[in-house]
Amino acid sequence: MSPARASSAIFPPGPRRPAPLQTLRWMRDTWGFLAECRERYGETFTIRLPGADRWVFLTDPEHVKQVFTGDPKVFHAGEGNSVLLPILGRHSVLLLDEKPHMRQRKLLLPPFHGKRMAGYEDLMRQIARDTIATWPVGQPLRAWPQMQQITLEIIMRAVFGVEGSQLRDLRAALEHVMAEVTGKRTMLTMALLGEGAFRRLPTFRRALEDVDAILLPEIARRRDAADLEERGDILSMLLQATDEDGRPMGDRELRDELMTLLVAGHETTATSLSWALERLVRHPDALRRLQDEVRDGEGDAWMDAVCRETLRLCPVISIVVRELQEPVEIAGHTLPAGTRVAPCIHLVHRRPDIYPDPDAFRPERWLDQTPGTYTWIPFGGGVRRCLGASFALFEMKTILGEIVAAMDLQTTTAPGERMRTRAITRTPGGQAQIVVARRRERESAGAQAVGVAG
Ligand code: HEM
Repeated sequence: MSPARASSAIFPPGPRRPAPLQTLRWMRDTWGFLAECRERYGETFTIRLPGADRWVFLTDPEHVKQVFTGDPKVFHAGEGNSVLLPILGRHSVLLLDEKPHMRQRKLLLPPFHGKRMAGYEDLMRQIARDTIATWPVGQPLRAWPQMQQITLEIIMRAVFGVEGSQLRDLRAALEHVMAEVTGKRTMLTMALLGEGAFRRLPTFRRALEDVDAILLPEIARRRDAADLEERGDILSMLLQATDEDGRPMGDRELRDELMTLLVAGHETTATSLSWALERLVRHPDALRRLQDEVRDGEGDAWMDAVCRETLRLCPVISIVVRELQEPVEIAGHTLPAGTRVAPCIHLVHRRPDIYPDPDAFRPERWLDQTPGTYTWIPFGGGVRRCLGASFALFEMKTILGEIVAAMDLQTTTAPGERMRTRAITRTPGGQAQIVVARRRERESAGAQAVGVAG
């Protein structure tokens, strides 16, 4: 058999259009493209996107399990995430594999341990309150930029533990980098010239240099801080952390990890919160029930269900990716080394056999169903599962709690907002438009206490 025939035979079926056209469709209409491929080609299909010759999409939980529990030497996530390299840097935990990955992951874990969440609560509440206090009553408001502002402030303060001019400059520099990365020019460059091509764009390079010009001196300054041991912020913890051989992280490693936490840690949560609001204002009963629960301060079962349902129905990241280091048999196909396999979060979450009426927003489904390790996967899985999952869920609950405690939102019968691509996230196309109907008197000193479930 000729190599060409051999390779066309081994991959699951998929669209035949040229790769740049598939990429453009993937970026412009991810959810529509995925639904169409699932319909036409079945549970496992192949798409052509930048970064690898073939991307094999998996939607059967058994295949997802095979990937998440597979040998990390064979299923490399770092290479699968290489699109993030220009921003995060080569030491980022997201871009490493095998031993170097486990070393970084262990160093990063302590600040994200579930038990530490309570320590971030006051910070989260205060920042949320300060921002939502500025929202106008009776006028349309785009929630997404507001959520971005809140979550960026939270992660910056959690990471650095300081306020002041350095944060102001860093905030501006980070927003500039993100605007560059998510701009139309970058997307087009990626589609036509391949993954990572945008790193050569001078505007992107300059924006990144501005971030580094703040981060690197801040790391050096903090290394010399006399009160390092008493400080509770993430940077101070990371500066004191050592690996099995007693080695701490170097400045460049720290820079890349800080950048990872700042970038991975705010846009994802902000977008999930925006989707939650977008859904809630279209589901008056769900919204009212949430308000009642927060006001009564008795548990957070409904809040938990609302957050889980939002992450199921509107996952901000549509796939997780692993690049095969040797041939692997999945779904009856022997896939060669170099193939990217992608457990498809979006389509797994829309399986009618697991989620009856899968396109409907029904938080109540979580009142008697626990999230399955391979069927509810907004945070990925296995040794690569999102390090910030507990932090993100806690943050979502805290901020949503503050919003519904502080105000009544107008509900609407307008159609749901369409999905829009921003780099690797999928956001509400109208930026989650809401209207504050009226402000509420605070019934208790704080909104309810929130539980943490990773
Ligand atoms: C709703 C919000 C969030 C979502 C939906 C999300 C989703 C994800 C996903 C899908 C992955 C890839 C997992 C895999 O490959 O299996 C990931 C990895 C990661 N996330 Fe998140 N994330 C969120 C919030 C956060 C936050 C708040 C932080 C930190 C402050 C964070 C830090 C990370 C890190 C460091 C990794 C890399 C883990 C590794 O490679 O070992 N994320 N996240």
